[in-house]
Parts: sequence; C-alpha cells; structure tokens
Amino acid sequence: MLDEKITDQESLGETSSLDFEPMQAWRNKILNAILLTLVAADIIAFMPGVLVSLKADLITTAIINIAAFLWITCIYFLKKIPYKIRAVNLILLLYLLGMWMTFHFGPHGAGFFILFSFPIITGPLLGLRAGSIALILNSLSLVFFMIATTNGIITWKWSYQTENWLVILTSFVLLNVLSTIAITVLMKGLEKTIFNLKAVNLNLKIVNDKLKDAYIDTIHRLVIAAEYKDTDTGDHVVRISKYSAFIAEKLGLSQEEIEKILYSSPMHDIGKIGIPDRILMKNGKLTESEYDFMKSHTQIGSKILSQSNSGILRYAQQIALYHHEKWNGKGYPDGLSKHEIPLAARIVGLVDVFDTLTSKRPYKDPYPIEIAVDFITKEKGEHFDPELVDILVKYLDDFIKIKEEINPSDDKIIKSYEWSERDRN
Ligand SMILES: [Fe+2]
Ligand SMILES: [Fe+2]
Repeated sequence: MLDEKITDQESLGETSSLDFEPMQAWRNKILNAILLTLVAADIIAFMPGVLVSLKADLITTAIINIAAFLWITCIYFLKKIPYKIRAVNLILLLYLLGMWMTFHFGPHGAGFFILFSFPIITGPLLGLRAGSIALILNSLSLVFFMIATTNGIITWKWSYQTENWLVILTSFVLLNVLSTIAITVLMKGLEKTIFNLKAVNLNLKIVNDKLKDAYIDTIHRLVIAAEYKDTDTGDHVVRISKYSAFIAEKLGLSQEEIEKILYSSPMHDIGKIGIPDRILMKNGKLTESEYDFMKSHTQIGSKILSQSNSGILRYAQQIALYHHEKWNGKGYPDGLSKHEIPLAARIVGLVDVFDTLTSKRPYKDPYPIEIAVDFITKEKGEHFDPELVDILVKYLDDFIKIKEEINPSDDKIIKSYEWSERDRN
C-alpha cells in the first residue's frame, strides 16, 4: 500500500521530447493513401468499365484496365519494396496510362486528366526535380499530340484546329505547372519546418539534460553537507546509490524505478543535519535519550523532503522516513513490517547497514566483509527483507566491486576487527 505512494511520481530523467515524423514517413503516407484510393476507385469505377469494354469488343482497353488494376494493387500491397521503386512505378503507370488513353480517346477521355495529375503527384512523392521533369515530359507529350493530330498521324473522334490546340496546350501546361509547384513547395516547406522543429527539440533535450545534471549535482552536494559530519566524505551516499540501484536492477524493476532509487537513495540520512554533533560523532555507546534523538533523523529528513513538487524528492522522503523500519516490525519510526515498508526504503535500509558496517565512521573502523555479511544473514527475515538479503549474498562480488570503485584510501577492507562500543550488544 505504501509502495503505491511512491509509484505515481514523475521521473527525474523525464524529458519533454516531441516526436516529429520524418519527411520520408509523410511521403510514404501520401503514397499509400494515393494507392489505396486508386485500388478502391479501380474496384468501383474501372472494373465495371472493363465489363463495358468487353461488351463493346474493346479487348485491348479491357486488358490494359485489368493490367493497370493489378499493377496498382501490387504496388499498394508490396510495402516491403523500397519506397522509390513503388513511387516510380506509380508515376510510370500514371504516365503510360495517361498517354495510352489520350492516344486512343483524345483530350475528351480520362487520359488527359491522368496526364494532368501525373506531375502533381510526382512532385510531392519524389521532390521538385522529379516534378519538373514530369512537367517537361507532359508538355512534350502534349506538343507531340498537337503535331500528330494536326498532321493527321493520329485521328480522334473530335479533332481541334492548331489555334484551339495552342489554347489547350498553354492552359494545360500553365495550370499543371502552378498546381505542381504549389504542392511541391508546400511539401518543401513542411520538410524544412520538420527539420527546424527537430533541431529545436534536440536543443530542448540538451538544456533539459543539463538542468537534470545540475539538479542531481545540487542534491548530491546538499547530501554531502548533511553527511559530512558522519562520514567525512560523500563516498557513503555514492555507494548507497549504486548498491540500491544494483538491487533494484536485480529485482527486475523498470528503468524509471531504478533511476528514482539511484537519485533519491543518497538523501536517506539528510535528517542527520538536525542531530547535534555530540550525538552524531559520539565515540561510544549512545544513551537511551541520545538514541531516541538519533532516531528522529528519519522524521527530520522526511520533513525536509516533504511537500515538494519533485517526484524524486517525494520518493526520497519515503526512503528517509522508513529506511530504519525492520522486516519484523521492530524498527522505527512507525514499526511497519514486511511489505508495509516501501520497497525502496527496504533496499536502502539493507545497503545502508552493509555500507556502514564495512566503512570507517568517526566512532569505528571498517569491519571485514564476511563479518558484515554474517551479521546481515543472521538478520534475514528479522531486520531485513529475506529476498533482498539473498540478492546481496548472491551478488556479493558485485557489491565488493562497487565498494572498491568508490572507496577512500583510509577505508580499505580489513581482515582484523574489533566491534566498536556503539555496535556492541
Ligand atoms: Fe539513517
Ligand atoms: Fe546512511
């Protein structure tokens, strides 16, 4: 139940990044949308046209319609084929179909409209240069039709005089150029906008990362200030952070949870800032009242960290408050037991004892690793969560490695030891 209190908080590492689909993804979408429309239009319009053609004995027209339908369907469904090949196939099909239909039925047939749409589709799909080539090809094709029909090479049902042809040609080409340029420039603008937004997004991420680093650094320095009297260096909190994250990882927690424990665990003893030096640094056993005073560092820490908007500080507050609770319910401040104690606090509670035992303190020298492990194993299911003790024992070599990585020169693992007065029962 208490675990729920610390699960809904935002992660420190959360970055407000926006995802922008690359231009190529947009082109792909446009291509698929055009192909899908054509496949659907073919089923609705062209296939009945095929039947009509067959009835009218226009076998070639029927075959070409069927071939075009199959071609379009293949391009649509074979999505694994590289984009350029699919796009070029569509454009080529449109051009060939447009030419063939115009050749047979003249400017009154669908071919003329297909030819008109061919550069307008080419521009957005393959870029301005390809669109321009399509426009030139269209213009040359129209000039070819004009020459061919005015010279009687092609005969259409309706024929035009040269003057009429010039009007058709110029209107067609001009409108074709305008439409193609408009849509291609729009696509180019979109491409540039996406590029700029991506750059802005990247900058935001860099700034966010820097803020995060500064935030962590500030917390770390505050924690060192609080720990300074107790441990002389900030190494204890760095090790706690690494040990805790290591256990969280072995428990299979999410990356977000691991990161929360990594950054919040160093703050577990921040409440010691409110404990007088004479108690904190006492070189001997604490009296009952001194011990009670010492215990209040959990509530002091919790108060310091409470009512923050930062998810990481709210998480740290739970650790500060409950890291001295015991699995058997005999800990402090609230006598919580087993899973009532937040998982992060159980983890930190264990590694805090492990690190305290194996490190130098103002009132004691470090104890050997085996002694610390022996003590912890005896407290399995009493002071400590048994599952966490098993992890510590199983991965002891990794813990020693972390210890050696972050170990001050006067804090070497020793072989001989003597229990300090404070630790003696
Ligand atoms: Fe503590
Ligand atoms: Fe500690």
